[in-house]
Amino acid sequence: MAELYGRDLITTQDWSIDEIQATIDLARKLRAIVRGGGRPPRLLDRKNFFMVFYAPSTRTRGAFEAATAMLGGHPAFIDVSTMRMEEAVKDAAKMYDSYADGIGVRILDKAIDFVYGAGRRVVEEFARVAKVPVINMACCTYHPTQAIGDMMTIQAKLGDVRGKKYAVTWAYSSKPRGRCSIQEEVLIATRFGMDVTLVHPPGFEIDPKIIEAAKRNAEESGGSFEVSNDFEEGLRGANVVFPRNWATAEFLRVGATAFGVDREVAIYNRYRDWRLEQHHVDDLMGRPAIVTHVLPVMRGEEATDEVMDGPNSVIYEQADDNFFAKMAVLALTMCKEVEL
Ligand code: CP
Repeated sequence: MAELYGRDLITTQDWSIDEIQATIDLARKLRAIVRGGGRPPRLLDRKNFFMVFYAPSTRTRGAFEAATAMLGGHPAFIDVSTMRMEEAVKDAAKMYDSYADGIGVRILDKAIDFVYGAGRRVVEEFARVAKVPVINMACCTYHPTQAIGDMMTIQAKLGDVRGKKYAVTWAYSSKPRGRCSIQEEVLIATRFGMDVTLVHPPGFEIDPKIIEAAKRNAEESGGSFEVSNDFEEGLRGANVVFPRNWATAEFLRVGATAFGVDREVAIYNRYRDWRLEQHHVDDLMGRPAIVTHVLPVMRGEEATDEVMDGPNSVIYEQADDNFFAKMAVLALTMCKEVEL
């Protein structure tokens, strides 16, 4: 898949379905090598991947760092609190472009006071300035490498995903969170021909541009896309459910400081019963039924421990697949030829 060499990845919409599938296929091969006790070739030998973190992470940092090192490259972790923040983004991007063979940027939630669009603009600015590939490691709008890894897991569990129902549902949490992973799931699943239902209470509408893109994707793929405001109806017949909190549209429009976190959480408290429980999986979902989560999951709030540790949960396989999906993205964007 030489076409991906040097390419940015801001959202999965930037890549064709064949390119995404090739990435998943490579991730599977890398997984087989590593989990079989081997090591992949040093595809990133003497290459630097600069990881610019404006926002914290457990998985994304660990996965990109380990994946770069496993391919023989050097992962440079840049905590932006150690950078000269008075500098224009384009100047920092220009420098890192000359030092690195690839750049990752993560900027969302508290790093942008939850203001929707602010993180995406920074990632886009890096991509505009840098000639090396820029990988979006999660912004306010998109989380592409997460969605590729998630589709890898869904395919492994469901086989042909076309016509399978995917319920991406709002779930209760006591803490506001952005909606990048929600929006990216909706985008990738509609492109792969799934019947996607986005489920949320009124007031939690996602970006209208994402809705339009999801509808277009579904028309092209033969899948479908709908929105439901009814938790149980939304789950009915689903083969995949992803229970995840995201902030109200108004909170994300004006930002946390202007809206107030306490005021926002008071809204969530009206929907405490939007919590995935095992009886929802057993009585409402179709078969097969899998429970996914990008993590971190708010245990006891978004879903019970019984569900997240239960027989339908695939959350740890998903996190493992995400490691190899990121490895594949690094290899394909930073290497001219990828041969295993
Ligand atoms: N799923 C995900 O992006 O996890 P982290 O926030 O821990 O990186």
